[in-house]
Amino acid sequence: MRAAEIRQKFLAFFESKGHQVVASDSLIPGNDPTIMFTVAGMVQFKDVFLGFDKRSYTRAATSQKCLRAGGKHNDLENVGYTARHHTFFEMLGNFSFGDYFKQDAIKYAWEFLTGEQWLALPKDKLLVTVYASDDEAYELWHREVGLPAERIIRIGDNKGAPYASDNFWTMGDTGPCGPCTEIFYDHGPDVAGGPPGSPDEDGDRFMEIWNNVFMQFNRDEAGVLHPLPKPSVDTGMGLERLSTVLQHVKSNYETDQLAALVRAAARETGVPYSQDVPSLKVIADHIRACSFLIADGVLPSNEGRGYVLRRIARRAVRHGYKLGQKQPFFHRIVADLVGEMGEAYPQLVEGQARITSALKLEEEQFGRTLETGMNLLEKALEGGKTVLDGKTAFLLHSTYGFPVDLTADVCRERGIEVDLAGYERELGEEQERGRAAGKFNAAAGVEYGGADTAFEGYAKTSVEARVLALYRGNEPVQALAAGDEGIVVLDATAFYAEGGGQVGDTGEIAAADGALFEVTDTQKVKAAVFGHQGRLRQGSLAVGQLVSARIDEGKRLATARNHSATHLLHAALRAVLGTHVSQKGSLVNAERTRFDFAHPQAVSAEEIARIEALVNREIAANHPVSAAIMKQDDALKAGAMALFGEKYGDEVRVLKMGEFSTELCGGTHVQRTGDIGFFKIVAEGGVAAGIRRVEAVTGEGALAWAQAAERELKAAGSLVQAQPGELVSKLERLQAEQKALEKELARLKGKLAASAGDSLADQAIDVSGVKVLAASVEGADNNALREMVDKLKDKLGRAAIVLASVADGKVALVAGVTADLTGSVKAGELVNSVAAKVGGKGGGRPDMAMAGGTSPAGLPDALAGVADWVKAKL
Ligand code: ALA
Repeated sequence: MRAAEIRQKFLAFFESKGHQVVASDSLIPGNDPTIMFTVAGMVQFKDVFLGFDKRSYTRAATSQKCLRAGGKHNDLENVGYTARHHTFFEMLGNFSFGDYFKQDAIKYAWEFLTGEQWLALPKDKLLVTVYASDDEAYELWHREVGLPAERIIRIGDNKGAPYASDNFWTMGDTGPCGPCTEIFYDHGPDVAGGPPGSPDEDGDRFMEIWNNVFMQFNRDEAGVLHPLPKPSVDTGMGLERLSTVLQHVKSNYETDQLAALVRAAARETGVPYSQDVPSLKVIADHIRACSFLIADGVLPSNEGRGYVLRRIARRAVRHGYKLGQKQPFFHRIVADLVGEMGEAYPQLVEGQARITSALKLEEEQFGRTLETGMNLLEKALEGGKTVLDGKTAFLLHSTYGFPVDLTADVCRERGIEVDLAGYERELGEEQERGRAAGKFNAAAGVEYGGADTAFEGYAKTSVEARVLALYRGNEPVQALAAGDEGIVVLDATAFYAEGGGQVGDTGEIAAADGALFEVTDTQKVKAAVFGHQGRLRQGSLAVGQLVSARIDEGKRLATARNHSATHLLHAALRAVLGTHVSQKGSLVNAERTRFDFAHPQAVSAEEIARIEALVNREIAANHPVSAAIMKQDDALKAGAMALFGEKYGDEVRVLKMGEFSTELCGGTHVQRTGDIGFFKIVAEGGVAAGIRRVEAVTGEGALAWAQAAERELKAAGSLVQAQPGELVSKLERLQAEQKALEKELARLKGKLAASAGDSLADQAIDVSGVKVLAASVEGADNNALREMVDKLKDKLGRAAIVLASVADGKVALVAGVTADLTGSVKAGELVNSVAAKVGGKGGGRPDMAMAGGTSPAGLPDALAGVADWVKAKL
């Protein structure tokens, strides 16, 4: 039975039991900062289990794409080495939200697995585990299903803490959890491994195929379990594992979909197809993980999800390298994957070109350091070591782009461990250095337990308020005195606190008695508490006092223009470059907006021109800018763009500019797009692989930019005396003229040297039949001196020559000796005899040598001594 048919049968079975079939969610959990990836089918239903969200159904079934890499659920290390581990896999699941519980869950599972018209698995091949204290589940298996006692295994807290058990499932460190019962398939005695709970349970003989979790608790940050509103059911069955059973093979990698990818990996690395080569299986698994991640909007980077993607991709590339493939190959397997899974997951087909080029880029980038890094690692591992030191692991990470688990993977192949503690120490030190260099947010460091601040800054620029708390530095105080630097917390404010890329407001807080606090930044103390940071210029300020807090309006308005323009820019980037453009970061202040986004190549000048035209068109359309508070789901349904991984509350603020842009945003904006004035992109560049950065200006900032550009042009024009519009042709002409002049100059210099040589020749004196010449020449550089010496040698016959030239307090010396004389007079010695007297040293061939010196004062004497020096040598 092919994987596609199994998937369809599962959904059909549960549909027949009254379950709503729900589509697979993204690999990136929509609004859940507690986990990085969708690790199970239940993730999209988390809020339903917790009672925060209600659906129109109480039973659901899904086939969910999942990723278990990085985080609590992490199988990355095992991939390739067992028959059943993956980073990416598909999970079949049925869910009850306060509807049925243990009894029906167990009955359904058994019926689907063993029922004649369903999977018809042989009953005697199945065994189960239950949580040690779950007598109810035990009894259900034993009495209702009729499993013999020896095939029901109780598993307790086998991971060292209460509820830390293979049979107590938790989604993450926090969230829904509960005891579970797991169903295993026995591959038979010719596969190594023991039953669950036995010392060799990690073998492949007994394979867990289905986990049924009885969701009963919500685990909080302190690890305390709180009962859920209603007992529920969450199950998960790996499609790949089930395919193994139904296709009568021993490993997931032999099933239809994965075997095709192992074959593709063999083709692209140039080795024969085999199921016994772990590296091929690693590549087959990793191409799925990487491609699906990119399809869901992640790109390789150095942090968060992007870093997990990078780790997986580089691990695959290293395994290719291990098989002897040193050229980029990994991206070529994307096409095979699309062939295997494109029908079930159309986003793979749509994203194929983008996925391929992103992986190729990553491969090329890593390819530049892979070989050097591997050589370094080989060296470090020489000599029978058992542990690789943390410094080397860190160096490999920081300089050669080796994620530490890749290094560990290489070491593991040779039975060597990595000193991970040492590595972490090095990493921590580097991060500390990074932090010290970064911006200091004092507000985040203070303790505050009081009331919230009401933010009134969308409508007002000034607010009457009461002082709730004061800090000198970050120490809580009752009052501030003139000159004190610190933080003011008010019960209401017009000051926007830095967030969503927009900088905090600046301005003044004043009291009737003359106190004046200058606000240089506004940062959040906590979610709804605003810290006004700055300095008390005059008077004194006390807790409880009434004040008026006024922002710097000019700055706020300029910032608002830039922020509104950022939304138009975001929409225009998507319109011109494609909808894969997703925001990766932004910084908006009064001067400019900086916007980082995912895009695999540089934005061309022509594309920039189109983006600018589009944004300015929407500005000219003068759309009203409206903000509405609504339920998050409604906002997303209305097409609002939200940021991956950003946590939004239940209620969100939706900012709309005509039909062109709809985004979730808490920032302050202009009233109509026309207020933005003029928009101009002033810079475009790359910040990381696959991430581009655009900087732009608006309003007065754009005017200032245009005026500065014009001033520069005008100044350049008047310097070269060009008429308006003729600057470029004038500059081209000037460049051509300069080239011609340089050529002419070189020709003249040569001529000059020749004629100087002629007159110098007359100054040579005869010393025992040898012509000796020692002279200083004005304005000649080393090359000119050498040329002169050559010419003089030709002219003088048997000769020893030293020429000097002085410029900028330095002496240049060149000595030449004709070939018939080098037996007795060496040019190197000759030049040094002079150089020694002008504070220098030199060297060269016996017939031509050069030197420099730093005391020109000694030069006349030094030259005068040359004749005697030569004489002594003859
Ligand atoms: N959520 C459960 C699991 O992932 C079913 O095993």
